[in-house]
Amino acid sequence: MRSNSKKNNKFPEINYIGNKEKIADWICGYFPKDARSVLDAFSGGGSVAYQAKRKGLKVVCNDILSVNYFLTKALIENSSEILTDSDVETIFKGTPLKGFMYKNYSEIYFFPEECMELDLYRKNIEKLSSEFKKALAISLLRRAMIRKMPYSRFNLDWKKIKQLRDEDYSYAKYKRKRAYHNKSFKHHFLDNLSSYNEAVFSNGKKNIAYNDDVFNLLKKVKTDIIYLDPPYTGTMNNYYGFYGLVDDYISSKKTKPLSCLRTYLIINIGF
Ligand SMILES: C[S@@+](CC[C@H](N)C(=O)[O-])C[C@H]1O[C@@H](n2cnc3c(N)ncnc32)[C@H](O)[C@@H]1O
Repeated sequence: MRSNSKKNNKFPEINYIGNKEKIADWICGYFPKDARSVLDAFSGGGSVAYQAKRKGLKVVCNDILSVNYFLTKALIENSSEILTDSDVETIFKGTPLKGFMYKNYSEIYFFPEECMELDLYRKNIEKLSSEFKKALAISLLRRAMIRKMPYSRFNLDWKKIKQLRDEDYSYAKYKRKRAYHNKSFKHHFLDNLSSYNEAVFSNGKKNIAYNDDVFNLLKKVKTDIIYLDPPYTGTMNNYYGFYGLVDDYISSKKTKPLSCLRTYLIINIGF
C-alpha cells in the first residue's frame, strides 16, 4: 500500500487563505469545558473543526464553497476511510481527455494538456467506492491544483500565471525557481497522500459536513457552541475568486458566486 495506515491525527497541508491553523488550539481552549458539540459555520480549510474533533467534540462544519465541504467531509465527517493503492490506480488510469476543464479553462488557469489530465481524474474519481474516498481524492487534487498555481489562488490572469511558472524568469526576478508549479498533478497528489490518509481518524462522535449558505444552516443545526470565522472586511476576502475554480471543476459546471457576495455585503456594509 502506498499510503501509510498509521494514524497521527495531524492536520495535513491544506494552504487555505485566512486559515486559523496556528491558533486553532488556542481558539478551542476558549470553548466552555462542558460543551459537547460545536458548529464551525464558516469552516474554510477546516483547521478549527479538525482541532475540535481532536478534542473529542461532536463537530458540525459548514462552508458555502463545495471544495471546502469536500475537505471537511474527508477529514472531519470521515472517521475511517482512506485511499489505497488500488484507489490511486483507478484515479490515474487512462488517457487524458477533452472535457469541462479543457473546454473552459485551457490557458486560463492551466495548460491544455493539464486540463485534459484533470478531466480524466475527475471522471475516474466517480469510480471510487464511497463518498469519503471521493472527498479525499477531490481534496488531494485540490491540493495539487493549488501547488501548481502561483500565489495558491485562482484569481490571476493567464499571462501572469505563465510568467510565474517560467522557472528562468522566476529565478532571475525572485531568486526562486518555484519548480513545484511545473510538477504534475499526480506528483503533488502522491506527495500528500500519506499525510491526508493519516489525518483520517475517529473521535467516537458522528461529525457532519454541510455545504450551505450560513443563513440557511443556522435554522437547522443545534450545537452547544457556534464558532464564526466569516470573511474579513477589507482585502483578501474574495473566497469565490480564490477557490471558485475548484468548485467548477468538482461540478463540471460554471458555478455562481452569489451567496459569497451576500456575505461580503453583510460583513462590509452591515446588510
Ligand atoms: C476566514 S474563512 C474561514 C477560515 C477557517 N476558519 C479556516 O481555519 O480555514 C471564511 C469562510 O467563509 C466562507 N463563506 C463565505 N460566505 C459564506 C456563507 N454565506 N455561508 C457559509 N460560508 C461562507 C468562505 O468560503 C470561507 O471559506
